[in-house]
Amino acid sequence: MKTLLFVTDLYYEAKGRNYYEEDLFLTSKLREAFNLVICHPEDIEAFEDIADLIVFRNAGPVSNFKDKYEAFRKRIVSKRLKTYNAFNGKADVNGKEYLIELTNAHFPIIPTIDTLDSLHKLPDVDMYIVKPKDGADSIGMEFVTKDDLNKKVDAKSKNTLIQPFINFEYEVSFYYIDKEFQYALYAPDKDKRWELKNYVATEEDLAFAKRFIEWNNIDWGIQRVDACRTKQGELLLVELEDLNPYLSLLELSEDTRQRFVEFMKKSLEKSLQD
Ligand SMILES: Nc1ncnc2c1ncn2[C@@H]1O[C@H](COP(=O)(O)OP(=O)(O)O)[C@@H](O)[C@H]1O
Ligand SMILES: [Mg+2]
Repeated sequence: MKTLLFVTDLYYEAKGRNYYEEDLFLTSKLREAFNLVICHPEDIEAFEDIADLIVFRNAGPVSNFKDKYEAFRKRIVSKRLKTYNAFNGKADVNGKEYLIELTNAHFPIIPTIDTLDSLHKLPDVDMYIVKPKDGADSIGMEFVTKDDLNKKVDAKSKNTLIQPFINFEYEVSFYYIDKEFQYALYAPDKDKRWELKNYVATEEDLAFAKRFIEWNNIDWGIQRVDACRTKQGELLLVELEDLNPYLSLLELSEDTRQRFVEFMKKSLEKSLQD
């Protein structure tokens, strides 16, 4: 049996989610097919040499341990560590910068800029959202009026993103393993982002989500396409989580959850052989 180093911060206090519940479930299933060691995201170095594959799961925002995260990324390359997800993604794994690239390439996303010189690329609205490029879990996100943008956006550092505030109908997420769609969930109550319900995706929805999966083209791993449904009925990307998407596995039906676990085991096997 191959050995997995399963990386998670079991006790991280994420908004509306308990990482440990999801990861106790997932590790209990994966250990049927693999030897499995659980470790905290800041302790990877101590265990990485005994693992055939490092499974980076619910680590919480990596900005909380930036230096160790960057050192880990360097060791992946220098020691040829095998990781799951593969770290060759272009999306959230490198911060939120990709949203600017996707805006300029006219993908269906919430229009995003990082300098007020580009304000003409955004719709003219009363309220904007400013968020750090290396943010996660809504850390550092602020609502800013048009008049206050100058004060809130540092013209030189370009370390924040500016978006129009979208008064969407609901948020919906599409979950993929490798390039295969697994399930979709949505948050019917806008005030309860993490109270998710089953969402029946249409072909149009899946065509939308797949564009981002194809654009990212990672070697293997789990991705979550987060989108919002506007009042006009269209979907816009909020983020493409290709580092450590929380999966809400315990909100799924037994069938879907089981299918996901089986698919993930196969994907892990494949990545080990690659
Ligand atoms: N431009 C926006 N307009 C309206 N709501 C937004 C916007 N950007 C983010 N949000 C809200 O904030 C949440 C967190 O933002 P997101 O960009 O996904 O960052 P994080 O990496 O912190 O999850 C989203 O799920 C959404 O509810
Ligand atoms: Mg998000």
